[in-house]
Amino acid sequence: MSKRFLLVAFVTILILSVLSFALDVGVVLPTNVEPRWVQDETRFRQALESTDYSVEILFSQGSPAKERENVEALIAKGIKVLIICPHDAVAAAASAQLAKKNGVYVISYDRLIMNTDAVDYYVTFDSVEVGRAMGRFLVEKVKPGTKDNPLYLYAGALSDNNSFLFFQGAWEILQPKIADGTFKIVNSNEAEKLKNKKDLTRDEMARIISQITTNWDFNTAKRKAEDDLTRAKKSDKGTVYILTPNDGTARAIADAFRADRDVKEYYITGQDAEKASIQYILDGKQSMTVFKDVRLLVKDAINLAKMLMEGKKPQTTATYFNNVKDVPAIQSEIQVITKENVKEVLIDSGYYSESDFNW
Ligand code: BGC
Repeated sequence: MSKRFLLVAFVTILILSVLSFALDVGVVLPTNVEPRWVQDETRFRQALESTDYSVEILFSQGSPAKERENVEALIAKGIKVLIICPHDAVAAAASAQLAKKNGVYVISYDRLIMNTDAVDYYVTFDSVEVGRAMGRFLVEKVKPGTKDNPLYLYAGALSDNNSFLFFQGAWEILQPKIADGTFKIVNSNEAEKLKNKKDLTRDEMARIISQITTNWDFNTAKRKAEDDLTRAKKSDKGTVYILTPNDGTARAIADAFRADRDVKEYYITGQDAEKASIQYILDGKQSMTVFKDVRLLVKDAINLAKMLMEGKKPQTTATYFNNVKDVPAIQSEIQVITKENVKEVLIDSGYYSESDFNW
């Protein structure tokens, strides 16, 4: 055998072994501090048991720098599809562009990456509807004919496009009831200034969200609620209505309101159907949550990735504008959970087991 033949054989084997170890799909999730994203990881792992594709899941620990590092590591491992839930919607644009430049398809997962045309697809829940469901819940709890019911507003992080979508949906429902005096906003003079305006611009929403943001952080949320309660007049307590953007912040904010002697009764929203919040709902400490069945999102993301790798053209059901392009999206429905339907929706469907909770 000639040396040349041996060399060619060696290189061929090397290439083949690199290719066979190459990763197919990389998944990057924002943090494993919040149960929501640990839930997504678990559901990804369960769904992947039945596929032949190789997948790696990494967390970015709430840091755009770590997120970028994760994306670079996955690209180096040869991924063909990147499924990414950005920590910061704008900062992640550069990672998406890098992936695109390396021939990788980019799927924005749950949160939209903004300001770039490097996002190919978006899998998401109907986030505006999440906000509407929260708004509707609060409106339904008001005694008909009463006025000046104290309304406390809280929102997610400004760096997350979803915070705007949730707020937009909630505002759509709450605003007419603020304008007609049913609710009185306690903790945002920017929202108060805009109370007669139905459709807010992104800048207007940003002004309000800046005042009421929890930054998706439990401690920030609790501190903010405590400060709001310290400043609030006694007449802004009694029975109160609290728009809270997700379960983690809802538990923190609910704890603060429960600790205030002048708050007699509160209605508070949440989302994600986290186990701890389901327990809060069973215990009467949280009023509702919006259930987003993560299994659907994971299934859509994996199917999409498979189709792209097989060169097929996926069907989409919506588009979301990210300031540069209308990103084709696959959207999943949401469902409101209260004490009344928790067993039917979450236990009987097998999402959680009965023994996860104290009934
Ligand atoms: C997600 C929520 C989550 C929140 C905080 C949002 O983008 O849609 O489900 O609770 O981020 O992590």
